[in-house]
Amino acid sequence: MDQFEIQGGRPLKGRVTISGSKNAALPCLFATLLTDQVCTLDQVPALADIETALKLLVTLGKKVDRVGSKVVISKGRPLTGKAPYELVRRMRASVLVMGPLLARRKRAQVSMPGGCAIGARPVNYHIDGFHRMGVETTIHEGYVDARTKGLKGGLIPLPYPSVGASENLLMGAVLAKGTTIIQNAAREPEVVDLGRMLQKMGASIRGLETSEITIEGVKSLSGTSHTVIPDRIEAGTFMIAAGVTKGDILIENVNMAHLGNVVHSLKQAGLSVEPEGRSVRVTYVKKLKPVNIETDVYPAFPTDMQAQWITMMALTGGRSRVRETVFENRYLHVQELLRFGADISLAGRDAEVKGVAALSGCDCMVSDLRAGAALVLAGLAAKGKTTVLRVYHLDRGYERMEKKLQALGARIKRVSA
Ligand code: EPU
Repeated sequence: MDQFEIQGGRPLKGRVTISGSKNAALPCLFATLLTDQVCTLDQVPALADIETALKLLVTLGKKVDRVGSKVVISKGRPLTGKAPYELVRRMRASVLVMGPLLARRKRAQVSMPGGCAIGARPVNYHIDGFHRMGVETTIHEGYVDARTKGLKGGLIPLPYPSVGASENLLMGAVLAKGTTIIQNAAREPEVVDLGRMLQKMGASIRGLETSEITIEGVKSLSGTSHTVIPDRIEAGTFMIAAGVTKGDILIENVNMAHLGNVVHSLKQAGLSVEPEGRSVRVTYVKKLKPVNIETDVYPAFPTDMQAQWITMMALTGGRSRVRETVFENRYLHVQELLRFGADISLAGRDAEVKGVAALSGCDCMVSDLRAGAALVLAGLAAKGKTTVLRVYHLDRGYERMEKKLQALGARIKRVSA
């Protein structure tokens, strides 16, 4: 298992280029199951989760060719319908093959995703939605066995605007018979990106970016070329890196429209945030101010930035409150941040962060992807040496993280333990 060794306390300066979005690339990759024609995806980040997705596509019958950030997916063998435990347990988003497989094969056997560090994360909204489209499911030997005589359009009111459920149902509905209306749908940019790719493949979809998506099923879809949107969470993480290290970073390949709430909060905290075309320059100018945030579905403050925000709030001149409303257990970074000398107390979904003058480096352990980002940020800001264990979590979602940080002047190295 690799670890990061960081000598903190250096302001990060220079430019960094943001990779394609992991959470947009994953459903876009699975959408290629909806056609036998060739699909080309560009700006696909090199990440462990993407590797898992490509393996799953190959397992299901696709041929995958990758050159740099471009992935070409074509027909290999006839599609098969089983997403094995071996891959789903590595990445829960594998459950998103259910929609495409039901649409193409009328049957999907998908391993039930197990527990997750950040919360229970059940898939009941996905399954209930498919029931409304004429699917029957049983659980057998740890697998959801989903069968249909043919997907039918229907009215699907989601109890919560789940990103994954919206994507899964959207991918089923594009080839279903008749009209599907997903009410209370997720509006995250990653859902919209998937919708745009499906439209290019010939799907009839209205209402993307709104909470009611209407899909008229079509008979078949064609291949397409699609460039995945930039990763808003990676961009936000580098913005905070500028803040916590008193740095000055030009972040390239950013869609600022996707970062409204984060940028607003960063400015309130006292950072200078200056967009320059597809780039943004984030500069530390004065002592950081405490800013309260509450995570929620898009366009509110993203839960995937909450951990990193807490690291920054640990270095302000006052007291701030954070409320996590999306996941019930997403504070595993807090116990580790205390080891850096942060002053944070937790009560249910709320965290209270009292700023301290400085953090001091320590050994710490990553529990999940964004918690890991928070610890790396703490290590970069802290005085002295930090060792971050279990960086494989970071390799799931940050492309070449230590290389990008090194180019900004960070003293960080990967060590094989
Ligand atoms: N939920 C249910 N039942 C369901 C589906 C969701 O109860 O059937 C609950 C979840 O337990 C959670 C909430 O609804 O409490 C939100 O879950 P959602 O389905 O929206 O999340 P997801 O699709 O599983 C994606 C991202 C996450 C991100 C969330 C929220 C991908 C691959 N993952 O997860 O990303 O935090 O949306 O924005 O797109 C990450 O990148 O670190 C990450 C965890």
